[in-house]
Amino acid sequence: MPDQNPLNWRDGCVPVSTRFDDPYYSLDNGLAETRHVFLAGNALPDRFRDGFHIAELGFGTGLNLLAALHLWRSSGQTGTLHFTTFEAFPLPAADMIRAQSAFPEVVQIAAELAPYWRDGSTDVSLADLRFRLIPGDARTSLPAWTQKADAWFLDGFSPAKNPELWEPDLLKQVAEHTCPGGTAATYSAAGHVRRALQAAGLEVTRIPGYGRKRHMTAARKGAADLLPHGKPCPDDQ
Ligand SMILES: C[S@@+](CC[C@H](N)C(=O)[O-])C[C@H]1O[C@@H](n2cnc3c(N)ncnc32)[C@H](O)[C@@H]1O
Repeated sequence: MPDQNPLNWRDGCVPVSTRFDDPYYSLDNGLAETRHVFLAGNALPDRFRDGFHIAELGFGTGLNLLAALHLWRSSGQTGTLHFTTFEAFPLPAADMIRAQSAFPEVVQIAAELAPYWRDGSTDVSLADLRFRLIPGDARTSLPAWTQKADAWFLDGFSPAKNPELWEPDLLKQVAEHTCPGGTAATYSAAGHVRRALQAAGLEVTRIPGYGRKRHMTAARKGAADLLPHGKPCPDDQ
């Protein structure tokens, strides 16, 4: 079978999609970018609580999952992190593992999860993690999803190269699948992305981006401050 998702490797360690002609994450430091954009951008770890649900558009190498679980553990959070990701072109396990090996800080978690990727698992249950990968085009799979997330990682390739993952209808689905007080973050500061999130009913802010990117986007659904701290999302039990 032809490789669904052919890669080039920049400097031997950063995967670049030839299908989308774009790297999976920052060429400078993917883990630092994830921490800035998706973790800090969603006010994590401060908002973590047992049952906290992260959802992601674009699983790629799984680096965002590793970074989130690493933060969950290193911040001393108890209970279970839920992580659901939507991915149309899953990478072969060997490529995921090769990419992840460039980040020594998450090597232990990478090793813990590697057997699941080698088995082709799309569901992983650990003592502190419920992970699910929903295969297929997110434009079809997200509307069919029956849960809601506390925090969204919007991580398609650049909007110019992967417009499908930034379509206003899909971002509306993101907003609909967000708990009251929930948030979303993306490295992109494209005006049309911000406008689509706003049109979907989210409060949108432009904040400093990672590395050479001047800005990124953070969004919130309603007034988080009015919700009792730690209240679980009603649709996410
Ligand atoms: C920038 S990469 C994600 C990087 C990833 N979060 C990581 O930690 O490595 C974007 C991902 O979106 C996926 N993708 C592109 N179009 C999609 C679509 N329509 N539906 C679902 N996933 C899609 C690509 O296959 C790719 O894995």
